[in-house]
Amino acid sequence: MAEGHLHELQTPRKEEVCLQLQCQKLDFSNTLNVNESENQEPQNKEQLSQIDLFGWDRGNKRKLSLFPEWHLPVTVMSLLALIVFIYTFIREVLHPFLVNNKNEFYRIPILVVNRVLPVISITSLSLTYLPGIFAAILQLYRGTKYQRFAPWLNTWMHRRKQFGLLSFFFGAVHALYSFSYPMRRSYRYKILNWAYQQVKQQKDNAWIEHDVWRMEIYVSLGILALAILSILAVTSIPSVATSLSWREFQFIQSKLGYIALLISTLHALVFAWNKWIDVNQYIWFTPPTFMLSLLLPVTVLLCKAVLLFPCLDRRIRKIRSGWESSKGSQSKCVHL
Ligand code: HEM
Repeated sequence: MAEGHLHELQTPRKEEVCLQLQCQKLDFSNTLNVNESENQEPQNKEQLSQIDLFGWDRGNKRKLSLFPEWHLPVTVMSLLALIVFIYTFIREVLHPFLVNNKNEFYRIPILVVNRVLPVISITSLSLTYLPGIFAAILQLYRGTKYQRFAPWLNTWMHRRKQFGLLSFFFGAVHALYSFSYPMRRSYRYKILNWAYQQVKQQKDNAWIEHDVWRMEIYVSLGILALAILSILAVTSIPSVATSLSWREFQFIQSKLGYIALLISTLHALVFAWNKWIDVNQYIWFTPPTFMLSLLLPVTVLLCKAVLLFPCLDRRIRKIRSGWESSKGSQSKCVHL
C-alpha cells in the first residue's frame, strides 16, 4: 500500500499504461514497416545515397536499438557476475591448487557457476526494492511528493521491472543447477569416498541431525522464494498486468515482492547456518560469498522495517495521498 502512492507519482496510472502500450504497438508496427523496406536491398548507388540523404539509416538504428530498457540492468548484473565468478574461482579453485596442490577445476562448470547465480538473483531482487526505499526517504525528508527525483533515481525506478525479471531468471537457473547436484559423477565419487571413510572409522550412521534440518529448511525456503518470484514475473506481463486492478497489481509487486526478498534472505541465512563462525570459510582472509550476498538484502529489509514504524508509515501515506508539510510546499514554490 505504501508503495502504491509512490507508483502513482512516479509511474503512469494503469489506464495511461494501457494507452502507452497501444501507442507502443503502433510504434512497433511503424518500425516493422521501415524494416521491411530496409530488408529490400537498394537497387543502385542513387538509392543508397537517397537513404543516406534522408537519414533513414541513422533513424532506423536508433529505433532498432535492442532492448533499451535492459541495457543498464544487464550491464550492472553482468559486471557483478564477472566479479563474483573471479572471486569464487580464486577462493574455491585457485586457493586449493596453489596451497594444497589439489585439482578442483572440475568445480567451475557447476559449483562455481552456482555460486554466481544466486548472488546475482538476490542482488537483483534487492536492487528492485532499493530505489523505492530511497524514494520514500526523500519524500519523508522533503515532506512532499510533488518534487521530482534526481535523474539517476528516476531511471533506476523505471528499471525495477527489469531487475525483478533478472532476479527471477537467475533464481530459476540457480534452482536447476542446484537440483542437478546429485546427478553429477563427481558427487557420486564423493559419496562413495565418504562411505569408505565411514567404514574405515567404523561408524555405522552418518546422520547429522542439525545438517539434515538445515538442508530441509533452506531448500524449502528456496522453492517458496522461487514460487513467489514466478508469480511476480507472470504478473509483470503487460496482458496479465492490465487484467488486474491497480490495487491487486500493487499488492503483488510490492507486498509479495518484499516477502520473496525476505524468504530468499532466510534461505541464504539458513544455508549459511553456523558457517559464519567457521574459520575455514575465510579463505585467504576473504569472506564467503553468502556473507557478501546477504549485505544488500538485509540492508533493504532493515530499511523497510524502519519505514514501517507507525509514525513514519503514517507520514509517508499522508504525503503520498497529496498532503504537504510546510517545508515541502515552500520548497515546491522555490522549485517551481
Ligand atoms: C527451487 C529453488 C531453490 C533451490 C532448490 C535452491 C537451492 C540452493 C542450494 C542447494 C544452495 C547451496 C549452493 C551451494 O552449496 O553451492 C543455495 C544457496 C543459495 N541460494 Fe538458493 N535455491 C533456490 C532458490 C533461490 C532463490 C530464488 C534465491 C534468491 C533470490 C536463492 C539464493 C541463494 C543464495 C544467496 C545462496 C547462497 C549462495 C552462496 O553464496 O554460497 N536461492 N540455494
